[in-house]
Amino acid sequence: MNQAESCGKVILIGEHAVVYNIPAIAFPLKEILIKVSIEDSKEFSVSSKYGFSTVNSRLYEHEGVFKIVEEFKKKYLKKEEANINIKIESDIPSEGGLGSSAAVSNATILALAKHYNIKLSEKKQFKFIQIGEKIHHKNPSGLDGKTVLYEKPIYFIKNRVTKKMKINFEGYLIIGDTGLESKTVEAVSLVREFKNNNENKFKEILREIKQVTKKAKKALVTNDFNLLKSAITNNQLLLESLGVSDITLEKLIKTAILNGASAAKLTGGGIGGSMVALSKNKMLAKEISDSLLKAGAKKTYILDIGTFK
Ligand code: MEV
Repeated sequence: MNQAESCGKVILIGEHAVVYNIPAIAFPLKEILIKVSIEDSKEFSVSSKYGFSTVNSRLYEHEGVFKIVEEFKKKYLKKEEANINIKIESDIPSEGGLGSSAAVSNATILALAKHYNIKLSEKKQFKFIQIGEKIHHKNPSGLDGKTVLYEKPIYFIKNRVTKKMKINFEGYLIIGDTGLESKTVEAVSLVREFKNNNENKFKEILREIKQVTKKAKKALVTNDFNLLKSAITNNQLLLESLGVSDITLEKLIKTAILNGASAAKLTGGGIGGSMVALSKNKMLAKEISDSLLKAGAKKTYILDIGTFK
């Protein structure tokens, strides 16, 4: 049996705008993992918490994995059949805005490469991640894929820049999962609709998000806590005006602030999914995390930004 893992991700700043070539910053979330195991079997099959798929009876949730295997077969196996079972086990909430689909694709391609003894470049690995992402997210920017690929904080501009960031910042991120599925595809098309109906306003919002990301980038390398605080707060307001926030997220955001967070915003696709809050120290981060759970968060995670030095 061959196994591979992938971590999740949390977008600190710039989601949605990143689809329109505005820079964004994301962190790997290494405490939540997806594990993919591959074993030889009579025919090709995929199993996960969603159920069991074979070539003739495929679950939509496994479609990305099927497509990755098809492309892998074409490229590396020539006429050989992929008679394997792919088993997916996950700690990452699905549709939680924390990178579960990119992580499934990443762990799948890594496990396939291991199983068939193929050496993959990072470029090829990313291409395969995007094959899965395109099935589930239609037109993904690539931010999620790059973050789970490199497992490093990433400064990213679609199709142009992927920079592993050297962080110099003391602070904690507290991530709260609302437990409601974030419909990324719908949220992305909602933003597109906003763009089509309010071209000028949309341009203005993008310009502001660009400034906010610029500030966040500076803050993270100069240990400027107040600058990151204001960047996060402004980004949430801008995401609200794009229409991708909702009351469940805003309840958790408010709870975090009332319990000592310096700033908080939604993270990922929004409309359900997860939020992220900023705190200066670990004790406060723990208190904020507890308050989020009390307010109904399904799960929380704490990320020490200082570990990315
Ligand atoms: C989803 O995790 C992030 C979005 O910006 C979409 C994308 O980057 O493709 C909402």
